[in-house]
Amino acid sequence: MKKVYVKSYGCQMNVYDAERMTDVLAPEGYAQTDVPEEADLVVLNTCHIREKAAEKVYSELGRVRVMKQERAAAGRETTVVVAGCVAQAEGAEILKRAQVVDAVVGPQSYQRLPEILRAAERGRVVDTEFPIEDKFDALPALDARRVRARGVTAFLTVQEGCDKFCSFCVVPYTRGAEVSRPVAKVLGEARALAEAGVREITVIGQNVNAYHGEGPDGRTWGLARLLHALAEIEGLARLRYTTSHPRDMGDDLIAAHRDLPQLMPYLHLPVQAGSDRVLAAMNRKHTADEYRRIVDRVRDARPDIALSSDFIVGFPGETDGEFGETMRLVADVGFASAFSFKYSPRPGTPAADEAEQVPEAVKVERLARLQAALEEQRRAFNRATVGRVAEVLVEKPGRHPGQLAGKSPWLQAVVIEGARLAPGDIATVRIDRAGSNSLFAEAPGVPFDATNTSAAPSSVSTNVFAGEAAFAVD
Ligand code: 5AD
Ligand code: SF4
Repeated sequence: MKKVYVKSYGCQMNVYDAERMTDVLAPEGYAQTDVPEEADLVVLNTCHIREKAAEKVYSELGRVRVMKQERAAAGRETTVVVAGCVAQAEGAEILKRAQVVDAVVGPQSYQRLPEILRAAERGRVVDTEFPIEDKFDALPALDARRVRARGVTAFLTVQEGCDKFCSFCVVPYTRGAEVSRPVAKVLGEARALAEAGVREITVIGQNVNAYHGEGPDGRTWGLARLLHALAEIEGLARLRYTTSHPRDMGDDLIAAHRDLPQLMPYLHLPVQAGSDRVLAAMNRKHTADEYRRIVDRVRDARPDIALSSDFIVGFPGETDGEFGETMRLVADVGFASAFSFKYSPRPGTPAADEAEQVPEAVKVERLARLQAALEEQRRAFNRATVGRVAEVLVEKPGRHPGQLAGKSPWLQAVVIEGARLAPGDIATVRIDRAGSNSLFAEAPGVPFDATNTSAAPSSVSTNVFAGEAAFAVD
């Protein structure tokens, strides 16, 4: 059997795409491997969002080149594919810069990988079309065994692309215009995931809360309505969504945080900056106070919600005072987690042409200050969950014997010690302690009875699909 090694960079959309690429390749006789040296086919699923992310592909290709030569010396061929957003943005440039590459495949073309690989045997290929046919329709149906092997949580792409054109961002160029998948297709895929044993779905899109899919009733459904329908699917215990834009945080979506118990109390809502001048220059089309008000409304609906965000420091022209407004917004809102970045000029985006670029040293210093504040808030949020009782979705065995690893409703990593649980179980535990990256909890309720292997602790809602995957740790 041939082997494929896929390495994915960037966002969750890329994680989803990488999984689907292996689904497309499975019927072609490719088994997945985590060992690049074993692979007959290497796929780098790349990210173009910042220069650093985009450059990673070239350093990785350097390593792949050495590997390909070593395999060739041993009489084995290796095909190298660059997929994802760098592929989309740079296309044939990649072939020029990296001789090792056999094919370049954009994020809207990977359903054609089998044909592309066949064509690559005759000569190097670039396929970065935005095809008319729906990529998702061309992808194979989900295979229950493959889904289950990936775990009890899954990403489900419901929307791709972006029409917002933030002035710093490449996404509208790499992923194209906003497209929402029809409701029936999304629900069908979600049911297949649930039947395979998935307990938590994160609905994803570059602008997921702008979702506007065609409903079975012929009407356009928004994300809130979609989440309500997903919540009806048997076996699905938890729903999440990412990533959102403040302008699309509608009343119905905020209400879903109050009304839908399956919707986890976590919201990733990028704000990028705290200064109204910078926000306007970023073309965000909202002010810092509007963001604060959205947060207030979300917290009214779901007081325990964990908020997360993205920040950019050193956007062109950002002054010390304007950066101070970002720090003030952080202090006002209080985030449970966050991602923060130095502004990185991206080719083809309006902000990249601004004359007043902020010096690197200033960006470095601002990022350090911002990250220190955000890290303090993250730790404070984690400390505040100590002593609380929380439902933890068990995902896999922990790092040490006797441990299980799962997630709290607030997306914190939780290690449960000394419990007999299976992936997919939802255990009600008391959080005992906060480590630097994980929370720790003791085994729930009834002590494990070694003579009765079928008995689950009383406070565990047993996963209806656990049968094949149950494991015991004492
Ligand atoms: N420079 C730095 N960060 C960026 N992001 C997007 N484009 C850039 C850029 N040019 C960040 C934003 C976005 C996240 C996914 O990446 O914060 O929300
Ligand atoms: Fe990176 Fe954006 Fe592409 Fe995701 S969509 S991989 S964040 S460039």
